[in-house]
Amino acid sequence: MVQKTKKIWMDGKLVNWDEAQVHVLTHTLHYGVGVFEGIRCYTTEDGKAAIFRLKEHVDRFFDSAHIVLMEIPFTREEICAAIRKTLLANEQPEGYIRPIAFLGEGEMGLHVRTNPVRVAVATWPWGAYLGEEGLKKGIRAKVSSFNRHHVNAAMTKGKVIGNYVNSVLAKWEVVKSGYDEAVLLDTEGYVAEGSGENIFIVRNGMLQTTPLTSVLPGITRDSVITIAQKMDIPVKEARFTRDEMYIADEMFFTGTAAEITPVREVDDRKVGPGKPGPVTKRIQAAFFDIVRGKNALFQHWLDVVR
Ligand SMILES: Cc1ncc(COP(=O)(O)O)c(C=O)c1O
Repeated sequence: MVQKTKKIWMDGKLVNWDEAQVHVLTHTLHYGVGVFEGIRCYTTEDGKAAIFRLKEHVDRFFDSAHIVLMEIPFTREEICAAIRKTLLANEQPEGYIRPIAFLGEGEMGLHVRTNPVRVAVATWPWGAYLGEEGLKKGIRAKVSSFNRHHVNAAMTKGKVIGNYVNSVLAKWEVVKSGYDEAVLLDTEGYVAEGSGENIFIVRNGMLQTTPLTSVLPGITRDSVITIAQKMDIPVKEARFTRDEMYIADEMFFTGTAAEITPVREVDDRKVGPGKPGPVTKRIQAAFFDIVRGKNALFQHWLDVVR
C-alpha cells in the first residue's frame, strides 16, 4: 500500500490526498498516452532534505512529453517548484516523488485535440524498492519471455505510461516464478534492461552497460557512469548477451526506485560468487554517500528543499 501523505499538487494547486481524483473518461486511462517521472529525496547527513538530480528528472519529464506530442502547460521551473512545495506540504524529509502528465476527459477515440493536459505531483515515503536485504545481499533475476519494445513500436527514450504494460507483464511473470526482478531482452535478443532499471555487468574490473538503444536513459545509470569515471573504473557502453550475464563477475540494477541493487543470481546461475562483488560495493557506497550529501564533489546533484 502506498503510504498516504497530506497533499498532492494538481493542475497548479495543492489539494488534499483524498481529493486528487480524476473522471473515469480520463483519456490516458483508456489509451495510455501520458508521461511520468520517478524521483527520490534523501535526508542528508546534516539533516536537510535534498532531491537527487531534480533538473535531469524534470528535463526528462519534458522530453517524454515532447516525444508523445504532449505540451505540459507549466514551465520546467514551475514543475520544480511544485515538487518542492509538495514535499514541504507533506513534511517529508525523504521519499519518492511522482510527477505525472496525462490527457484529461473531453473527447474520446484516438485523434483528440482538445483534451486538457493535466499535471500532478504526488510524494510518499518509499524504502528500498527491491528490499533492504536485496540492497545488501543481492537479488535473484530472471530473463522474461517478454521482449523489451522494438524501438519503432514504442518510444523507449520516454517514460511513457503505456510503455509500462510491457514492464508489468515481465515483472509479474518472473515474480510468480519466485524471482525478484525481470531482465528484458531487446527484439534482437541482447540484454536491454530490467522492468524499471538499467543493467550493468562487471568483468575483469570493467563495467559494461547496454547502450541507449531500446532502453530508458536512466539518470541513475548516468550517475553510475560518472561516479565510475571519477573512480578510474573503466566503463563500456556495448550490447551483451544473456550468457554474458551468466559469466559476469558482478551484476547490478540501477534505477531511482531500485537505487543500486546487486544481482546475485540470474536464470538460476550464480553471478560470480553469488554475492555483491567489490566493484558493485564501491559504486553503491559512493552513490549512497552522494545522495546523503557526504561527497562535496557531487553537491550540484542535490537540490536542497529545506
Ligand atoms: C524502464 C526503465 N528503465 C530504467 C529506469 C531507470 O531510470 P532512472 O535511473 O532514471 O530511474 C527506469 C526507471 O525510471 C525505468 O522505468
